[in-house]
Amino acid sequence: MSAAAGWRVCVAPMMDVTDRHCRYFLRQIAPRVRLYSEMITADAIIHGDRARLLDFDAAEHPLALQLGGHDPRSLVSAARVAAAWGYDEINLNVGCPSDRVREGRFGACLMLDAGRVAHCVEAMAEAVSVPVSIKTRIGVDDHDSYEFLAGFVERVAGAGCNTFIVHARKAILKGLSARENREIPPLQPGRVHRLKREFPQLTIVTNGGIRDLETIRHELAAVDGVMIGRKAAEDPCFLAAVEAGFLTGTDAEGGVDREQVVERMADYAARQARHGVPLHRVARHMLGLYHGQRGARAWRRFLAEGARGTQASPRLLTASLGVLHAAGRDGIID
Ligand SMILES: Cc1cc2nc3c(=O)[nH]c(=O)nc-3n(C[C@H](O)[C@H](O)[C@H](O)COP(=O)(O)O)c2cc1C
Repeated sequence: MSAAAGWRVCVAPMMDVTDRHCRYFLRQIAPRVRLYSEMITADAIIHGDRARLLDFDAAEHPLALQLGGHDPRSLVSAARVAAAWGYDEINLNVGCPSDRVREGRFGACLMLDAGRVAHCVEAMAEAVSVPVSIKTRIGVDDHDSYEFLAGFVERVAGAGCNTFIVHARKAILKGLSARENREIPPLQPGRVHRLKREFPQLTIVTNGGIRDLETIRHELAAVDGVMIGRKAAEDPCFLAAVEAGFLTGTDAEGGVDREQVVERMADYAARQARHGVPLHRVARHMLGLYHGQRGARAWRRFLAEGARGTQASPRLLTASLGVLHAAGRDGIID
C-alpha cells in the first residue's frame, strides 16, 4: 500500500464539530476514514487541561490532531505531547482566516511566511515519529497565483512535509468572516490537480465543496485523497457510501444500520455520562443520522429537545427509535 493510501478519504477538522464525541459517532458509520480533530492551539496544550483537550477513544484511529500556532518551540512541545497521547498525525493549520487566529499570527496568514512554516514543520518532524502534515489554502488575498502556491509547497516540502491538504479556494483575510471564506472565494480544484502533477512525490489531498460520489471519483483520478467537511456533519451516512465506493471497493451503497449506530451511541453516551458528560454533548452530533430518511424530522426534534439540560438520560437515544418508527408508520417524510 502506498504511503498516500492512508489519506484517500479524510474528514475535515471543524471547530466545535469534530470533537471526540463527533469522531466516535462518525467512526460507527465509517470504520476507515481518516479523522481530524478540531484545531487546538499549541499554547492550550502546553498550559491547558490536556486530558480534556486530547483524550479520545481507541476506536477513533486513524486520527490526526490539528494544531494552531506559529512558534516552532511551542509547536514542538505540543506535537510531542500529542504524539505521546497516541495521535497518528500532527497537522498544522495554515488555512484558518478568522480574525482571532490572524491576530495570533497563525492560520491562513502563515501562507505569507513560508520560511516560518518550513521551520515549524521541520522542528516538529524532528521531534515526533508520526507524520507532520499541513492544511492550507491555494492562496491568500492578492497572493493567489499558482506560482505562489507552488513556491509555498516547494519550500515547506523541502523542510520535510510530505502531506499537503489543500482547501481549493483562497482565503481573504480582511473583509470576509471565516464562514464567508468557506463560500465566497471560488473553488479552483484545478490548482490542486496541478500541484499533484508537478509534485508527484507528495501526498496531495483536496478539500472544499465535496458533496457527492461523482466529484470524489473525479478528484481521486487527479490527487491522492479527498477531505470532506460540512457534508460529513450534515449527512454522516454519506461517509459509509464513500467508504464502500473508494476504500473497501465494494461499490455497494454503503448501507448503514442506523438503529445499530443509535444503540452503540447509547452505550457510549452512558459511558460518557459516568465521566460527567451531559447527553446533549454527544447527541448534538447525531442529528444528521437520518438525513433524508422517513421520520427524520420528528426524530431530530425528539433528540434535540430531550437531550437538553444536564439531567437527560442516555436511554433517550434508545427511546428515540420508537419515535422514528411511529413517525415512519404515519408516513411522515422529512
Ligand atoms: C464549523 C466549521 C469549523 C471549521 N474549523 C476548522 C478548523 O478548526 N481547522 C481547519 O483547518 N479548518 C476548519 N474548517 C474548514 C474545514 O476544515 C474545510 O476546510 C471547509 O469546511 C471546506 O470543506 P467542505 O466544503 O467540505 O466543508 C471549519 C469548517 C467549518 C464548517
